[in-house]
Amino acid sequence: MDAPTNYRFSTLAIHSHQASDPETGAVIIPIYETSTFEQEDAGKHKGYDYSRSGNPTRRALEGCLADLEGGAYGLCFASGLGALTTVSMALFKPGDHILCGDDVYGGTYRFFDKVFRPLGIDVSFIDFTAPEEVQRHIKPNTKALYLETPTNPLLKLVDIQAMVAIAKEHNLLTILDNTFASPYLQKGISIGVDIVLHSTTKYIGGHSDVVGGALILKDDTYFQPLRFYQNSLGATPDPFASWLTLRGLKTLAIRMKAHEANAMALAQFLESHPGVENVIYPGLSSHPQHALAKKQMSGFGGMISVRIKGGLEEARTFMKSLKLFTLAESLGGVESLVEHPALMTHASVEPHIRKAIGITDNLVRMSVGIEDIEDLKQDMAQALEKTTKIAQPQ
Ligand SMILES: Cc1ncc(COP(=O)(O)O)c(C=O)c1O
Repeated sequence: MDAPTNYRFSTLAIHSHQASDPETGAVIIPIYETSTFEQEDAGKHKGYDYSRSGNPTRRALEGCLADLEGGAYGLCFASGLGALTTVSMALFKPGDHILCGDDVYGGTYRFFDKVFRPLGIDVSFIDFTAPEEVQRHIKPNTKALYLETPTNPLLKLVDIQAMVAIAKEHNLLTILDNTFASPYLQKGISIGVDIVLHSTTKYIGGHSDVVGGALILKDDTYFQPLRFYQNSLGATPDPFASWLTLRGLKTLAIRMKAHEANAMALAQFLESHPGVENVIYPGLSSHPQHALAKKQMSGFGGMISVRIKGGLEEARTFMKSLKLFTLAESLGGVESLVEHPALMTHASVEPHIRKAIGITDNLVRMSVGIEDIEDLKQDMAQALEKTTKIAQPQ
């Protein structure tokens, strides 16, 4: 089953580009742990010559991801940032201008601000929740809109349809980082996005055991340059990383449902807790863009951000007191994680910018895993009790 079919998501995740091995009957795609491939004659081979340029295990992952996003092509990378750097180097040149959301993954901000800008590519970070702001910042040399939704860590939503409309009007490329939603909950290409980017390290891999990235392309417009740069820059995943990611991908649908059910229950629990200042979760009716979340996503995902009552000390106490939630960067694995954006994932964003966009010292981000919800709630309750005690000394 190598071509997109009418099968639904869960079926595609398990079968697309993953036919049994015709030689041996192996049901699972082998880890083609080889750097090179024998050639019949110089330049004559079976489609693979060197594993950086292409490898059958990686090819299965690339094809399956393309089908799940509803795209024409998938290209995989050694990390999400490998995907970002490759698409950026391939499609932009000095003198170009990119408009990027102001609440994006810290590493994305760091790359655009500290690596790309010094190379002569101008990048403006704009509040993408306000389409009129985006319109206002378009310049004659603007080439692309780079959006992330839901955003990291504030879980703001960007109206993908509105962004695609602006891009069409001004002939801009649209790139969507779909890491937080996963292709199960949000499909940018069907809304008109040109390129979808993933850190497959997160929900797609799903088990916190492999780092990877992917680009999914709407059509063949950018396929040749992107494949050329994928091979030329060399940030490609090894066969074992591709295999682990493909194995994780098979259960994406069922995991996303479980993540979401737990996140919703936990968000409601936290919203009613006196130790919490506010809960940010797109599934809550208190989320300012709840209606947009319902419109453009088929579920609300497993990420919650909370502001703990108090400041940095209370946030630290809360995180240290949690027993089931591991204090660690990353997200999207089966286990629950907690992290402090200002000190961890977004430490590379300057303090005044963090302050301006709302990454406060009492903000804590949680990746809700698929453990038993009662255990997760109890863990939260005991940690908040300890936090409340230090916030109001007797
Ligand atoms: C939304 C988002 N995009 C991209 C990345 C970068 O991915 P990677 O860590 O796989 O390079 C991350 C990493 O946390 C992320 O959260």
